[in-house]
Amino acid sequence: MRLILGPMQGVLDPLMRQLLSQINPYDYCVTEFIRVVDRRLPARVFYASSPELKHDGKTLNGTPVRVQLLGQDPEYLAENAALAVTLGSYGIDLNFGCPSKTVNGNKGGAVLLKDPDSMYQIIRAVRDSVPSRYPVSAKVRLGFDDCSSYQEIAAAVEEGGANEIVVHGRSKADAYEADTVRWDLIGDLVLRLNIPVIANGDIWHRDDALKCMKVTGTDSLMVCRGALHMPNLGAHIVKGQAPMCWREVLELILYYSDFEIKGDKGLYYPNRIKQWFRYLILQYPEAKKIFYKIRTIKDKNSILDLLNYSLSECIKPDESCFLLE
Ligand SMILES: Cc1cc2nc3c(=O)[nH]c(=O)nc-3n(C[C@H](O)[C@H](O)[C@H](O)COP(=O)(O)O)c2cc1C
Repeated sequence: MRLILGPMQGVLDPLMRQLLSQINPYDYCVTEFIRVVDRRLPARVFYASSPELKHDGKTLNGTPVRVQLLGQDPEYLAENAALAVTLGSYGIDLNFGCPSKTVNGNKGGAVLLKDPDSMYQIIRAVRDSVPSRYPVSAKVRLGFDDCSSYQEIAAAVEEGGANEIVVHGRSKADAYEADTVRWDLIGDLVLRLNIPVIANGDIWHRDDALKCMKVTGTDSLMVCRGALHMPNLGAHIVKGQAPMCWREVLELILYYSDFEIKGDKGLYYPNRIKQWFRYLILQYPEAKKIFYKIRTIKDKNSILDLLNYSLSECIKPDESCFLLE
């Protein structure tokens, strides 16, 4: 099977990709989206979003990283796509799923799902501008207001020349509501299309992954929020590794505190940890108590003290099963 770590703007940033790809066998990662409006962006924008470009387009442990672009203008998207692969990106992913009002107001993201012809024009222009050895993928939802036009959307992606399609099994209107994901419709696309279909949406555990593969008939999956709920979700799905215990998660979070961001004024770690805890509390009941304590703390060292104390409470001497060792 193939398992991909998907994009999450403001969450799955380069350091988080580095951490998660170190302990999970992801086939590749996708960056947060880079917005293209009306110009060729300077190289520094690409390096900021994907410092992996300076390492042959791979995380430090060798997982390829694909730059995601979001926009509505075929020519500028094509120009920026060509630049991204020249800089080292492992292909290009095009975002047709972002529900943000600002982005949609500018005719980018999910609003394009209402206009498969524009999607076709964008994908065709990008495919033509990027050498064929680099894959071009399109990440879509099943529709905008509802899922009634998912087949036209997928046909536009295939006819535009994309090498693969990632389908989040919801419409834009479904947002992220529970019980709205339609793996069955993704399965219909697997039967209709000649390009690989990557199924995405609500894969939290290995059982979900197995069920999703069965319902859709694809062996390619993308995980996003679940990868933060359970930090070793990829290894859990691919290798059958047991979900990390809470102590291992604490050790991982402490290890993450050594990750540096250039120019950071000490806010990166506190902010990211609080954000991460919002996901962790859904999988680990132990996270709740700590989250309530750290949420008002702004200082990195105070957070580390608290985390170290929590770790000392749950660790037994001579016991270390930290997965990074
Ligand atoms: C906070 C957040 C940020 C996201 N950012 C992006 C993004 O930059 N590009 C994109 O294509 N999808 C983005 N998504 C959508 C996810 O990639 C994914 O399609 C969605 O979360 C469903 O997958 P999941 O159930 O595995 O989380 C984002 C989702 C969330 C919750």
